Amino acid sequence: MCNVTKDNITEAFIRYMGPDTDPRLREVMTSLVRHLHAFAREVSLTHDEWQQGIGFLEQCGAISDAERHEFVLLSDVLGLSSLVDMLHNRPEGTSSSVLGPFHISVAPPLAVGGDLRGDFDAPVLLIEGVVKDPEGNPIPGATLDIWQTAPNGLYSSQDPEQDTYSFHGLQTVGADGYYGFTTVRPVEYQVPTDGPIGAFFAATGRHAWRPSHLHFIAEAEGFRPLVTEVFAADDPYLDQDTVFGVREDLVMRYQAMPAGSFPEAGFALSGKVAEEYLRVAFDLTLVPA
Ligand code: BEZ
Ligand code: FE
Repeated sequence: MCNVTKDNITEAFIRYMGPDTDPRLREVMTSLVRHLHAFAREVSLTHDEWQQGIGFLEQCGAISDAERHEFVLLSDVLGLSSLVDMLHNRPEGTSSSVLGPFHISVAPPLAVGGDLRGDFDAPVLLIEGVVKDPEGNPIPGATLDIWQTAPNGLYSSQDPEQDTYSFHGLQTVGADGYYGFTTVRPVEYQVPTDGPIGAFFAATGRHAWRPSHLHFIAEAEGFRPLVTEVFAADDPYLDQDTVFGVREDLVMRYQAMPAGSFPEAGFALSGKVAEEYLRVAFDLTLVPA
């Protein structure tokens, strides 16, 4: 094409791709550039705005390292991570939700009935349920990788006061598919705002809060791994999660349990909790691979 114009540049881009380009890559790039060019035309993007956008992406790169993934956070706050999740969600299983940056790859084993609260001085939350298939059959041997915030709203990797594995555990369910453990009520918290995403929030009048939640990765042989999180029904940020992670089926309701009613056996804290506590049941349904 000897005369590239604002009207034919998109077709020129598509033509430039070589014949050996992987078909899926061709499909994705063709659509991406079509939408990118259409966006620039629609808003009549100026040089200054283009420069600002490039500068923003450079800042995301500059603050990122092996631990900090500002581009993932950008995808999260734009709703892209959640949209990709929902595109591949299977309605017969529990909904998936964002992984977030605070998962650690090898959590310590947490026996069924084990405790994550440790020495933290906060009311006990007992959470339990069954890992099952879409027909309701338990999935023996399924594993649950669990992580959450401490009562101060920080994950262990953000907080020098916590042990590396504080509020992280890996539970393997038995033949009945039952999982259960004690912990504390997770609390709402803000995603990191000390980088370019913080500036983006300020410029667009948005807050950085996520409703309180507990993360799970459920895995079992023959089933699709499930990355998800469960949310408290009474959380003030439930309908305004800044990373768009809330789905109706992921909302759970804590029951206030009276003093003296903690199970007498089966939990690491049995015999040690005389006071009121919170209890919630939440089953996880995995979809065959
Ligand atoms: C989280 O749930 O831990 C999280 C998810 C997305 C962005 C930041 C944090
Ligand atoms: Fe989280």
